[in-house]
Amino acid sequence: MERRAKIAVVGSINMDLVVTADKFPVPGETIMGETFAMIPGGKGANQAVAAARLNADVSMIGCVGDDLFGEKLIGQLRSERIDASFVKIEPGATTGVALIQVQEGGENSIVVVPGANALVTPEHVREAEAAIRGADVLLVQLEIPLPAVEAALRIAREHGVRAILNPAPARKLPPELIRLADVMTPNETEAAILATGTVEGAGSLEERIDALRRLAPDASLLVTAGENGVRTAIFGERASYPAYRVDVVDTTAAGDSFNAGVAVRWGEGADLDEAVRFGSKVGALTVTRFGAQSSLPAREEVERFEAKTRP
Ligand code: RIB
Repeated sequence: MERRAKIAVVGSINMDLVVTADKFPVPGETIMGETFAMIPGGKGANQAVAAARLNADVSMIGCVGDDLFGEKLIGQLRSERIDASFVKIEPGATTGVALIQVQEGGENSIVVVPGANALVTPEHVREAEAAIRGADVLLVQLEIPLPAVEAALRIAREHGVRAILNPAPARKLPPELIRLADVMTPNETEAAILATGTVEGAGSLEERIDALRRLAPDASLLVTAGENGVRTAIFGERASYPAYRVDVVDTTAAGDSFNAGVAVRWGEGADLDEAVRFGSKVGALTVTRFGAQSSLPAREEVERFEAKTRP
């Protein structure tokens, strides 16, 4: 048995309010949907839960409001054996919510109202320094304020903890923040926004990777491209990894589970090449089920998964 990875996650915690409908409404239109569900989500919490189900020891650092959603989401983290002692309950704040619509074929659209996630501060992150210092890998995303993201990355750098920055949702970042990441995991759109600030005119995937490498020459890049797999630049070496063939139900949290898979295998001692293959399997299994945390696979399922690549 390989050693268990220790993962620290600094990020968002949301309650997802999910509806299904057979199409997306256009502005001004009202349409009838089919189903409604409340499912624990948030990119940070999804990555934490995914890593815990893959057998890692996980600490979560973030904020919820002092409301029913906050209470429920902390309970959910604890039920997954995650150390939630650095999840703060912010008096008077509402817990983050995401309004998600999933349409037939699994495509989604998401509006996030950050609530308490917007109150994560560098001081709060520094209070959790011991959890970050003790981790094999730090995972951060962009659903909390940038100063908190930067504080987490700085602590990791200071203690030699490897840091994965999942730049989602996309925004242009200061180069000094980008340079604190050892690995960056944008999807194709996020790669464009990071590289040039917009999607239009960002050029091919290779050009986006070139631009990102100029911004962060030392970071490894793992760019996810949905059914086209993952394109990487690991220590400058480019490689392509095919996507696995699965029946897509809902793509929500696919990126989160990929990130968690990479972090866990890397934290267990595998190299990034193997970690990307493992993360791709975790992501593939996630899209076969509905919802965010409801869709995250257990380690045994990933080990059993007979991966067939897309033709
Ligand atoms: O990545 C998926 C997540 O994005 C959802 O769970 C939702 O909460 C939004 O943060």
